[in-house]
Amino acid sequence: MTTINRQVLTLDEFTIQQLRIFPRATGELSNLLRDIGLAAKRINVEVNKAGLVDILGDYGSINVQGEEVKKLDVFANNQLVGVLRHGISCAGVGSEELDEIVVFNDVVSNQSKYIVLFDPLDGSSNIDVNVSIGTIFSVYRRKSELGAPCRKEDFIQAGINQVAAGYIIYGSSTMMVYATRRGVNGFTLDPSIGEFCLSHPDIKCPELGKIYSVNHGNFFQYDEGVRNYITNCQKKTSETGGPYTQRYIGSMVSDVHRNLIKGGIFMYPGMSDMPEGKLRLMYECNPFAFLLEVAGGKATNGKTRILDLEPAGLHERSPFFAGSKGMMEELESFLKK
Ligand code: AHG
Repeated sequence: MTTINRQVLTLDEFTIQQLRIFPRATGELSNLLRDIGLAAKRINVEVNKAGLVDILGDYGSINVQGEEVKKLDVFANNQLVGVLRHGISCAGVGSEELDEIVVFNDVVSNQSKYIVLFDPLDGSSNIDVNVSIGTIFSVYRRKSELGAPCRKEDFIQAGINQVAAGYIIYGSSTMMVYATRRGVNGFTLDPSIGEFCLSHPDIKCPELGKIYSVNHGNFFQYDEGVRNYITNCQKKTSETGGPYTQRYIGSMVSDVHRNLIKGGIFMYPGMSDMPEGKLRLMYECNPFAFLLEVAGGKATNGKTRILDLEPAGLHERSPFFAGSKGMMEELESFLKK
C-alpha cells in the first residue's frame, strides 16, 4: 500500500504557513502564487502532450519582439492572463507576448495592490525538439492609488522593487521555484495529486561552481573582456577542484535552474550587432536577478547590478551575467581589465 508523505507541504499549505508568520499579511501574494501555479499546471498538461495534438508549430503571427509566435506561447499567455484576471489579487499584467499591458479594471482588481509581469513560455524555439522550457514571472506592488485601474507606470519599475519572482520549469519533472525577500523555495509537481509540493526548501546558490553557460557560436561578437573570461574558463581549473565545464541548453529557465542548484554562471552578453544582447530586462533578467540574489548569487549587465537598472520601457533588452557569487566576481575582474 502506498503511504502519503504528509510531511511534504503543498504550495498552498506553504504560502499559508508563511502568512502565519506575518499575521498582518493580507494573503494577496499567496493568492497570486496559487493562481500562477494553477496556470502552470494547465500549461504543463499542454506542454506534455505537445507532440500529440495540433499545437506544435508556428501560430503564424510575429510577436512584439519580432519573433514567430508558437501555438503553445499563445496558449500559455492566455492561461496566465485568464487566471490572473479571474483571481482577486492582480490589478493587471504585462506579457512578453503582448505589446501593451492588460489592465483588468473591475471593482475587485482595482483594489489589488499587485501587478504581474511574465514571459509565458521562454525557450519556445525548443518546443518542437522536446527540450525543457519554462514560464518566468515577477510581481511588483503598484505605484498608483488603489481603487482605480492600474497604469503603465506601475509596470515600468526597477527590478529592486520586485516583491516576488520565480519560474516554472517543464522538464523531466515540473517545478515551480519562487523567491520573496525571505528566501527561495522550489516545489515539484506531484502528478498523482496535481499539486506542487515543497521539494527544495530554502535554496542557496553554491558560492562557487564548475559550469559556465554561454552561446559559444557568438564568441567573436562578444567584447574582449567576455572573450578573455570564456577563454580562462576553458583553460582554468575551477576553484571547486575540476576543470570548468560548458553547458548551454538555449532555454534560459533550464540553464539558470541547473546553475542555481549546482553552482555556475550564465551569460548572455551584448554582441557587436546586438549591443543589448537578446534577453528582456523586465521579463527575463529582473526576475532571475532577484531570485539569484535572494539565493546568495549575483546578476549584472556587465557594469551595473541588474536590479538597479531603471527601465525605459516594457520590452527593452539587456546583457545578462548571473550566477554563483564567486564566479561572478571572477568574471567582473575580467570585465574591468
Ligand atoms: P526563445 O524563447 O525565442 O526560444 O528564446 C529563448 C531565450 C532564452 O531562454 C535563451 O537563453 C536564449 O534565448 C537562447 O538564445 P540563443 O539561441 O541566441 O543562444
